[in-house]
Amino acid sequence: MLQACMSSAPIPAWSARWAHLDRSGGCYDKGMRESKPEEAAGVVIAIDGPAGAGKSTVARELARRLGMGYLDTGAMYRALTLEAMRRRMDLDDAPALSSLAATMNLDIAYVPGESPPHRVLVDGEDVTAAVRTREVSAHVSQVSSHAEVRAEMVRKQRALARGRDVVVEGRDVGTVVFPRAPVKFFVTASVAERARRRHEEMAKEGYEVSLEAVRQDMVRRDHMDATREVNPLRRAPDAEVVDTTGMSVSQVVDGLLARVEQKLGKRDGGT
Ligand code: DC
Repeated sequence: MLQACMSSAPIPAWSARWAHLDRSGGCYDKGMRESKPEEAAGVVIAIDGPAGAGKSTVARELARRLGMGYLDTGAMYRALTLEAMRRRMDLDDAPALSSLAATMNLDIAYVPGESPPHRVLVDGEDVTAAVRTREVSAHVSQVSSHAEVRAEMVRKQRALARGRDVVVEGRDVGTVVFPRAPVKFFVTASVAERARRRHEEMAKEGYEVSLEAVRQDMVRRDHMDATREVNPLRRAPDAEVVDTTGMSVSQVVDGLLARVEQKLGKRDGGT
């Protein structure tokens, strides 16, 4: 698992292999000490927006079509929340949570072609599904509201993207993590549409919950994400707003691809 990092060759294109955070043998950390992380990044396409706007679906499809890597920063906050809950930590204890973020064994593996196209691992355990439960969803805004926690996560996110062409999705990617990303989108949709999509998703996963409860939860999370003091959800001034209300995934992705092409030129990507 450490082969890619231990090699003296240039960091290979991000593909179906484990991307290391804490067990990288110093590979990414070394790079981070040597230069400013953002300057060392490859091409980053930043995709931010509220929950349920269809951000993940379009970000993944965009990455696939462009043959780029993909990083879901929300999954990282979710993994931290899961681990903190398992350890029965106080979710308001910012120093303890940020120390956990700095030391926990968190790996994100990009596995193109699979759904979802990544695996989230904590101490080698695959928690990809566990980070998406309602319990984690209910507490992740609280955990991600702490400045120290966010600073640590931003550091990790930059390290992961370093030297790679990658589509990065989250809430503060275009504003804080990669403010100089050459392409930024702010993907949104009406609250009614976002609640409807999330409700449908949850029903498929076997959760019996009313549409109104999902809508209320969404409004609550939106509020917390948008009003927290540190790195709130907001559109970067240079991000293009994409309203996906009433649009199909392929309509949205075609539109994004056209904009990427305008900004970066034609890219040699997937099919
Ligand atoms: O995208 P998601 O719903 O999986 O994100 C989970 C939570 O993490 C969400 O409440 C907001 C938070 N988050 C954040 O604060 N910053 C990010 N860059 C990504 C997610």
